[in-house]
Amino acid sequence: MSPVRVAVLISGSGSNLQAIIDKIEKNEINGELVVVISNKENAYGLERAKNHNIEGLLIDSKTVDHHEYNRLILSAVKERNIELVVLAGYLRILDKEFIEAYKDRIINIHPSLIPSFCGKGFYGLKVHQSAVEYGVKISGATVHFVDEKADNGPIILQKAISLDFDDTAESLQRKILAVEHELLPEAVKLFCEKKLKVIGRKVSICK
Ligand code: GRF
Repeated sequence: MSPVRVAVLISGSGSNLQAIIDKIEKNEINGELVVVISNKENAYGLERAKNHNIEGLLIDSKTVDHHEYNRLILSAVKERNIELVVLAGYLRILDKEFIEAYKDRIINIHPSLIPSFCGKGFYGLKVHQSAVEYGVKISGATVHFVDEKADNGPIILQKAISLDFDDTAESLQRKILAVEHELLPEAVKLFCEKKLKVIGRKVSICK
C-alpha cells in the first residue's frame, strides 16, 4: 500500500502535529505528511514543519472572506493530491464546499468526551474550565470525522481520564493533551491502513 498523503491544519503550537510527525518518522503510520497549513502567521506548528523538512503554508484567514479562504485551502490540498486532512488545533470552521469535497476524509481532535463540552465556543481552556466547574469525574479526548457542524461528526476514537478533586483547567488540559498525543496519531494510522468505515453515525474499525 502506498503511503496516504496527509495535510495537517493548525492554528497554534502544533503539539498534536508533532505527535503525528514523530510516528510517521518512526514508520508507525503508513502516511506521508505533505503539507502543514496554518491560518496564523506566528503558529509554532509552522516551525515544527520546517524543522522536519515538511512544507509549511500560511493561508492567512484575516486577509480574505470565509469562503475565499476555504477555497484557497481546498485548492492547496487538491493541488497536492491530499487524501486525508487532519485538523490539529485548527480554530476555523471549514465550509460546506470543503467538507463535501473531503467527505469522510477530514478528522479533528477535541479535548473532551463529545458530546460534552463541545461545539461553538468550546475551544482552548474554556473546554477544561467548563468540565472542572461542572464537577465531572471523567473527561478525555475525542477524534472524529468532520461534518458541517462543529464537533459533530462520527466518532473514531475516545479515551477517558479521571479528574482529581484538585484539578484545575490548566492541569486537566495538560493531562488531556498527553492523551491526545496518543489518540490522534492512532486515528491517522487506522485511516492510513484503510481500517475506518463510516456507517451512519458510527465508525467501524476493521481488525
Ligand atoms: C488541542 O487540545 C486540541 O484538542 C484542540 O486544540 C489543542 C491544540 O493543541 N483542538 P496543539 O496545537 O496540538 O498543541
